[in-house]
Amino acid sequence: MTALRWVLPPDAVSADALRLHEVPLRQPGPGEVRVRVHAVSLNGRDQMVLRGPFGRIPGRELVPLSDVAGVVDAVGDGVAEFEVGAAVTNLHWQDAPVPTPPLGLGALDAPGVLASHVVLPVNQVVRAPAHLGHVESATLPCAGVTAWNALFGGREVAAGEKVASLGTGGVALYAMQLAKAAGADYFGVVRRASAERRLRDAGAAEVVNSADFPQWGARLREITGGVRNVVDTVGTATITDSLTALARQGEVALVGLFAREPLPLDPMLLFGSGGSLRGVAVGTAAQHRELIAFMERHDLRPVVDSVHEFGDAREAFAHHQRGGVVGKVVITVP
Ligand SMILES: NC(=O)c1ccc[n+]([C@@H]2O[C@H](COP(=O)([O-])OP(=O)(O)OC[C@H]3O[C@@H](n4cnc5c(N)ncnc54)[C@H](OP(=O)(O)O)[C@@H]3O)[C@@H](O)[C@H]2O)c1
Repeated sequence: MTALRWVLPPDAVSADALRLHEVPLRQPGPGEVRVRVHAVSLNGRDQMVLRGPFGRIPGRELVPLSDVAGVVDAVGDGVAEFEVGAAVTNLHWQDAPVPTPPLGLGALDAPGVLASHVVLPVNQVVRAPAHLGHVESATLPCAGVTAWNALFGGREVAAGEKVASLGTGGVALYAMQLAKAAGADYFGVVRRASAERRLRDAGAAEVVNSADFPQWGARLREITGGVRNVVDTVGTATITDSLTALARQGEVALVGLFAREPLPLDPMLLFGSGGSLRGVAVGTAAQHRELIAFMERHDLRPVVDSVHEFGDAREAFAHHQRGGVVGKVVITVP
């Protein structure tokens, strides 16, 4: 028996370099679960790892991607939590106070999930939401849990409040869905006219195009009176605008890794609103389970931009890299 997996050769920095390898099918060891993969999803972080040096070890090959959904097809000794046939996804990090890969699967020395089968420690496996299929379930582990943590990991977003995020990617669309399900109004910030239209259609109360309003934080504050939460999916380059948009006692959840250069911060932005800036690193196993329960309760279905076949993994990366995606890019495994 063999398994298939896409491998990024050492020091390669383009999806064109991905190679499909056939390898022996590994049996799960004690405390491990083998998952027959049905779907995997891409995150902004996977493009950063692809291009390196973020998340790469020089001279080392890598199986990309961190988020998987599938069915348990073998369990190792001592595993009582899952039976063969269970529909599961992964936790971004193991559910235990043990050393874990700092960037999750598919980065540094942690092989990823762009494969037909993956073997994971049982404490990195979680049941899939009951109402979702594999394509939708594969979007939860990084983007879904990050958005959940950003909105509910500090003070929980409440009905009637205003929430904003940037772009139309996986985290931002999750933020919109979760905020709206909680009864909040969602405001988007985009940089393409096409994204503006699509985000309005998807349910945003209002959308600011930063191409029209380079000082978009001030514009957002003007049209909303100040937002309670900004889920900043870009990074340090946008913190000033995100803080400017805040209502009193508001919070910017700093999620984005696209811009990581240290920047001077005007403390008056925080004094003025009494706001706060909170760093978000995906989330805990408990938050992942809270997200599942919330999505089941509200019958929430993640927004999927496109679904690509396993053999077209290189094109899936290229599509995601071109930008303009709305929601999650998913690859299915036959
Ligand atoms: N801290 C954490 O634990 C954590 C967890 C998950 C994600 N993240 C980070 O969160 C961000 C979003 O991740 P994702 O997976 O949702 O990404 P994604 O699906 O690839 O989507 C990225 C979105 O961001 C938009 N964007 C990029 N740069 C922008 C800018 N300068 N101004 C406005 N919009 C911009 C893109 O717009 P275009 O279509 O116009 O390019 C796109 O809509 C990434 O930085 C990622 O690394 C961090």
